Amino acid sequence: MSGALKFPDNFLWGTATSPTQVEGHVANEWTDYIAADGGHCRVACNHYHRYAEDVEWMTQLGVNAYRMGIEWSRLQAAPFAPLNRPELERYVDLLDRLKAAGITPMVVLHHFSNPPWITSAGGWLNPATIPAFEDYVTKLVSALKERVYLWNTFNEPDTYASLTYLLGGFPPFHKWRLWSYRKTIRHMAAAHVRASDVIRQAGNGGRTPEIGIAKNWTFFGPFRKHAVWDHLLAGISHHAFNRFVLHEFLGGPRRAASTFLGVNYYGLTRFKNFEPMVPAGGANPERLAQLGVVCDDMFERHPGGLGTVLRNLHRQYGLPLYITEHGAASADEDFRILDLTEHLRELHGAVNSGVDVRGFFYWSLLDNFEWQFGYSKRFGLLEVDFNDENLPRKMTRVGEFYRGICRARAGAVAPEDSSVPVHRICIP
Ligand code: FCB
Repeated sequence: MSGALKFPDNFLWGTATSPTQVEGHVANEWTDYIAADGGHCRVACNHYHRYAEDVEWMTQLGVNAYRMGIEWSRLQAAPFAPLNRPELERYVDLLDRLKAAGITPMVVLHHFSNPPWITSAGGWLNPATIPAFEDYVTKLVSALKERVYLWNTFNEPDTYASLTYLLGGFPPFHKWRLWSYRKTIRHMAAAHVRASDVIRQAGNGGRTPEIGIAKNWTFFGPFRKHAVWDHLLAGISHHAFNRFVLHEFLGGPRRAASTFLGVNYYGLTRFKNFEPMVPAGGANPERLAQLGVVCDDMFERHPGGLGTVLRNLHRQYGLPLYITEHGAASADEDFRILDLTEHLRELHGAVNSGVDVRGFFYWSLLDNFEWQFGYSKRFGLLEVDFNDENLPRKMTRVGEFYRGICRARAGAVAPEDSSVPVHRICIP
């Protein structure tokens, strides 16, 4: 690949999904949920039945890693119950197929969903969820330890807790319950420490397992430099969603529970008179374009921030990092390709300056059920036709571009003549 940016040979070039978003046939708090576009997750991409084909697609993409979730609600029907054998076997088969394809799995234990018996007992507000989760993890890890060494306990605890208890986006749709938000984070952090002990004790054949959370990192800022109230709101958001959460999971002795930190990076949220200027926050895309805010269908882009956050987190915690998610949703594939190129250039800069980043997982393998937004946001390397009941997959141009990167084990340099503007902002 000409103009390639060299990455370490053992770097993981992967892609990511989550069970509720792709599998279908799940029985959790999302099953009866109808999204803004009328979509639901009951069939989703039917990855549940079609995982073998999806592993073949991954082979075509040339990825050497797959960040996948295992759905707790499938495996345990009641607190402390034995794991459901056929469901476990299905995941084992998926892991074996990945191994045969030379694809390293990173397994996520919690990605925005819970078994119904956890939900009805109060979810993560109930401290009894911590030992229940530990029991589940003990059984799961004992079954999978020979096949998995990369464990991601929680995906974006801050997104989960804030959309559940502050912003009303996730079931049970509560708003402004700050105390519940904090409690959820604290309980999850305690569960992470316990799960980490379990995983360490179980081991992974001869290999030491790697354990970490995936932290969503959003930069917050004011839209207008001198708007004091928007500065204040950005500061509060940064504190509540970034600093507090990292402190709970990695502060003091709890830091020892993690061997890595996953970073999910999508960009920036700026506030204008308290309004988040991003499509995911309800802002009108045409208005945003007029104001010069460069975004995909969800968030404001800020590629330069990726290098900044990687350097800062590396300095602060000294843990190896993975980009556990990055991607863009847009019908404009040139935009998505340029977005990826820009972010890989930043990633490369960070790696070159000594930050220990071990892998990059593109969100997502497939177009999928994007929570409150249903199927309206297209993040896939593979396009899925949800109007066709066979749910055919098709390679996108972004997928082809990423295949070039995975095969060359290298990032690409942005085309010189690119006409897509790349927005940069300084965050104080
Ligand atoms: C992240 C989630 C993932 C997906 C992407 C777009 O916050 O972890 O499930 O929704 O955003």
